[in-house]
Amino acid sequence: MSVKDRLDIKQLPEHMAIIMDGNGRWAKGKGFLRAIGHENGVSALRKTATECASIGIPYLTVYAFSSENWNRPKKEVDTLMTLLVSSLKKELKTLAKNNIRLSAIGNLQALPKKCLKELTEVMEQTKHHDRMTLTLALSYGSQDEIITATKAIAQQVADGKLAVNQIDQNIFSNNLFTAGMPAVDLLIRTSGEYRISNFLLWQIAYAELVFCPVLWPEFNENELHKVLLEFQQRERRFGKTSEQINS
Ligand code: IPE
Ligand code: IPE
Ligand code: MG
Repeated sequence: MSVKDRLDIKQLPEHMAIIMDGNGRWAKGKGFLRAIGHENGVSALRKTATECASIGIPYLTVYAFSSENWNRPKKEVDTLMTLLVSSLKKELKTLAKNNIRLSAIGNLQALPKKCLKELTEVMEQTKHHDRMTLTLALSYGSQDEIITATKAIAQQVADGKLAVNQIDQNIFSNNLFTAGMPAVDLLIRTSGEYRISNFLLWQIAYAELVFCPVLWPEFNENELHKVLLEFQQRERRFGKTSEQINS
């Protein structure tokens, strides 16, 4: 029986998130430029997103460019932004064919104008698709997101629209970029790094974490199935005892 056949289709994560790491090391290992690693990273994302939509995961959020990634050499940043524009143009077909809606979170205003324009267009053209929402985290940093939410809530209080004791988890969640999305159930990081790197800190509060050694350009449908199987073998207790969960 294949790994895919062993999956319980009723126990898939509702919201899966991925820190797509290892493009540079993959390229280096093959004697290629880092840019080639990023290009192959786009292919891995296409395969993964298509398979997620096909098996029935409603939300996939991927870390594509962090607020800290602006500190990379300018040449690499430029390459990534150019790749973003060309991939958005190229992948519109894939999104349409698979009924995937594209969304984005992060400090999008910091993106070059061309990127923002292309991104806005693809989001507009896919907004009626309802099989899966693919969210790109771009110029994204979770601590900044939390500060932005805090300021918005503070402003509502200052304007007399909200009382301090009304602030709860719901209000807070609804002021994050991910407002309206379910909490993350499963977070995957590739490339063997064991860190979160400022990604979705609030949203992963009770996520299952899976760290896989595979470098992102080598991630594919089979790797995804393996991670999902591992997820399905975990017991999510949410603070309760195992006995409570199983009764
Ligand atoms: C992830 O791969 C892609 C981005 C951060 C944009 P990296 O570029 O971080 O690859 P490594 O970690 O150097 O191998
Ligand atoms: C995290 O990867 C960001 C993305 C995958 C886009 P990095 O490679 O930038 O993370 P650190 O800096 O090594 O933690
Ligand atoms: Mg990296």
